[in-house]
Amino acid sequence: MALWGGRFKQQASTQFKAFNDSLPVDFRLAEQDIVGSVAWSKALLKVGVLSATEQHDLEQALGSLIEEVQANPQVVLESDAEDIHSWVEGKLIDKVGDLGKKLHTGRSRNDQVATDLKLWCKQKGGELLLSLVNFQQALMDLSQRERATVLPGYTHLQRAQPVTFGHWCLAYVEMFDRDIGRLKDALYRADTSPLGSGALAGTAYPINRMELAADLGFRRATMNSLDAVSDRDHVIELLSSASISMMHLSRFAEDLIFYNSGEAGFIELSDEVTSGSSLMPQKKNPDALELIRGKSGRVYGAMTAMMMTMKALPLAYNKDMQEDKEGLFDALDTWQQCLDMGVMVAQGLRVNSTRTLAAAQQGYANATELADYLVSKDIPFREAHHIVGEAVLAAIEAGKPLEDFSLSELKQYSDRIEEDVYKHLSIESCLDKREVLGGTSRSQVQKTIESIQSGKHEI
Ligand code: ARG
Repeated sequence: MALWGGRFKQQASTQFKAFNDSLPVDFRLAEQDIVGSVAWSKALLKVGVLSATEQHDLEQALGSLIEEVQANPQVVLESDAEDIHSWVEGKLIDKVGDLGKKLHTGRSRNDQVATDLKLWCKQKGGELLLSLVNFQQALMDLSQRERATVLPGYTHLQRAQPVTFGHWCLAYVEMFDRDIGRLKDALYRADTSPLGSGALAGTAYPINRMELAADLGFRRATMNSLDAVSDRDHVIELLSSASISMMHLSRFAEDLIFYNSGEAGFIELSDEVTSGSSLMPQKKNPDALELIRGKSGRVYGAMTAMMMTMKALPLAYNKDMQEDKEGLFDALDTWQQCLDMGVMVAQGLRVNSTRTLAAAQQGYANATELADYLVSKDIPFREAHHIVGEAVLAAIEAGKPLEDFSLSELKQYSDRIEEDVYKHLSIESCLDKREVLGGTSRSQVQKTIESIQSGKHEI
């Protein structure tokens, strides 16, 4: 039964009904709608709209409905109700007859849907926080495992300076820390209850909205009824938190896709997260990572779509806003799946430390060290940079690393160079000099791991 038949002479066309109905999407709000309805029935009891028995019977019926939904969330889809609010009301009437028709007193689907969606966001946000923390933990474990493994660090995708694999992992731990902060921040602002705002002007019943908000587990009630039913900032904030985090995930994926390439050969991904080619038997493709990288696009798409939908919408509720859920559900599911897949990737990957070390040694990654050495011999840095540039050019032409030049060869570039230069050119010395806070030296990486694990780390 539709919730609004009285004013109409004709039935809506089936084509329009299919276009207008949101149940195929908003069925996921069933539990939130029922929980919100129980709280509303209590509020109606307090203002004398329902008797204690009536409220009791409604609460019982809603309780059994929630059990049905929990046992099989798909049961909702068997109905041709317009949306989840109509479905819950219809089911209630099936269970308790005319009493079910009293529940909607003083309430509108506009404050109802806003409340349901915020409750859903809070629940899903909690799950996402857990997935983020799990992913960070997997990165921490990997960084512990590979804390001493040498990895070429890149700028412009050219080998720049050696770092450790553990340091690379910790870079992502930082990014996901900021994502956690952003998500918590968005959830804090979303944590206000619109219920009691009515269609747009506020309910006409003397409901204590602060009490009602607390009953539903919200921090407080919203403060303006027009805003409460028209606000979808929380949807956009969650989508933008998801987008930024997917950007981080896509960079994580891209780094590893490159490390896994035949050309680099730095890591091997586990069979669990890779697939083969139907034609080329030798292939082992990094599908999980490519999908993570690719799915970032659909999450940005959902964010952009919602910004576009909300742009220039007049106050208060407009049906345009029904478009909020499909993209939000999809984007947050996608984000969660990618984080969970990221855990599997991180847990299963093996680093080929011989290849990473060889690559770090081949790329003249110690050129800065030679320049710093010359600086220590009183040559100004700019001049040292030029001298080393000439030496690197000669080394490239000779096809060998800087440290393979004999002392007399090196002296052609600067007579300040002495035998002690060789210890400065080793990878170990390049790494171990980066003792500064946030640097890549092995002891600094170890300190960072320990400080994160002890919870002392500042975001
Ligand atoms: N299904 C709608 C939505 O998701 C809620 C109903 C509000 N509809 C209305 N005609 N006021 O936004």
